Amino acid sequence: MGFPAQTIGDLKNLARRRVPRMFFDYADSGSWTESTYNANETDFSKIKFRQRVAVDMTDRSLGSTMIGQDVAMPVAIAPTGFGGMQHPDGEMLGARAARALGIPFTLSTMSICSIEDVSEATGGAPFWFQLYVMRDRKFMHNLIDRAKAANCSALVLTLDLQILGQRHKDARNGLSAPPKINFNTVWQLASRPQWCLSMLKTRRHTFRNIVGHAENVGDLSSLSSWTAEQFDPKLNWSDIEWIKERWGGKVILKGIMDAEDARMAAASGADAIIVSNHGGRQLDGAPSSISALPSIVEAVGDKIEVHMDGGIRSGQDVLRALCLGAKGVYIGRPWLYGLGAGGEAGVRQALEIIRKELDVTMALCGERDIRNVGRHNLVNPGVFSE
Ligand code: FNR
Repeated sequence: MGFPAQTIGDLKNLARRRVPRMFFDYADSGSWTESTYNANETDFSKIKFRQRVAVDMTDRSLGSTMIGQDVAMPVAIAPTGFGGMQHPDGEMLGARAARALGIPFTLSTMSICSIEDVSEATGGAPFWFQLYVMRDRKFMHNLIDRAKAANCSALVLTLDLQILGQRHKDARNGLSAPPKINFNTVWQLASRPQWCLSMLKTRRHTFRNIVGHAENVGDLSSLSSWTAEQFDPKLNWSDIEWIKERWGGKVILKGIMDAEDARMAAASGADAIIVSNHGGRQLDGAPSSISALPSIVEAVGDKIEVHMDGGIRSGQDVLRALCLGAKGVYIGRPWLYGLGAGGEAGVRQALEIIRKELDVTMALCGERDIRNVGRHNLVNPGVFSE
């Protein structure tokens, strides 16, 4: 990589210089006014740690579990569509980096690399698969069965995308499938020749979970109309039942922001929920994920494992979420920035930065075992209660 990155922000700057604008902005943006997207990040700084001294800080441990699976730190890679446009073979590289660091990798339905590509890249090691509820049930069966065959060890079911939030930056940048060819888009690509050359070397340029698997989707233009109508606006709690039954393994429900929905999710028999507003890409004007976390933990924390994502940009943020009751967290953009900045090495660096920051912050709070952190490590644990 060009320079040693010290922070996730350094990786973001590097990615901005390497990835064509339409793809960098696709990752680095939210919906409408981006107020929720911004609050996801800024609300973390309202949480203050209790600094402790003269506590034995030797022999520290970040190891924990998420849905009963051992993790080297309670951080997973979030499912993100289009990962393979930040860097060729992006999801394969991300999965390898996650495996090297001992944390779960979640593959999106809307990834460029397929379930089978990722399985091959990680030598058949388990990863997690994220599923959208789509109108084409036959295709959902196909995805579930392929994820099972690939040894996936959890199904992350995303509930907050029955219809697509409006993302103005994508429209302005001309991001579409099939790609628009005009001066603006050609210039965006031409100004990143290294990225273009590296993309020419891979055969993975399209949504490989879908093309060739869903009915009548054989190329980019048929794919575009297919995706536009596939997200199921009729999705409801009874869908969880048949999906759970067909899958037969651990299920995590993603996109819960409300205590009432959290109770429904707990009653559905899922293994965990993710407090998430889709990284500020869906309902702009919703609260930040971190501010919604405490009330959801209070509502269902004794019934179901609560995870969260949205706005985590450092190991300090990871610790803040754990202190407020999350059993584990997910990072979306940080892994994409690492990927855009430097492929597999970049993702590893993103994860190493977060691990180091988490370890040092935990120690300075006077804790040696990540499983023991909690509200007692905060000066203002009630910061988000009204
Ligand atoms: C996402 N997210 C997402 N979620 C999901 O369930 N399926 C998906 O395909 C995608 N795609 C996607 C693309 C991009 C570019 C981003 C940034 C996000 C949401 C993602 O899983 C997660 O909820 C957020 O990214 C978390 O916020 P941070 O960590 O990016 O701030």
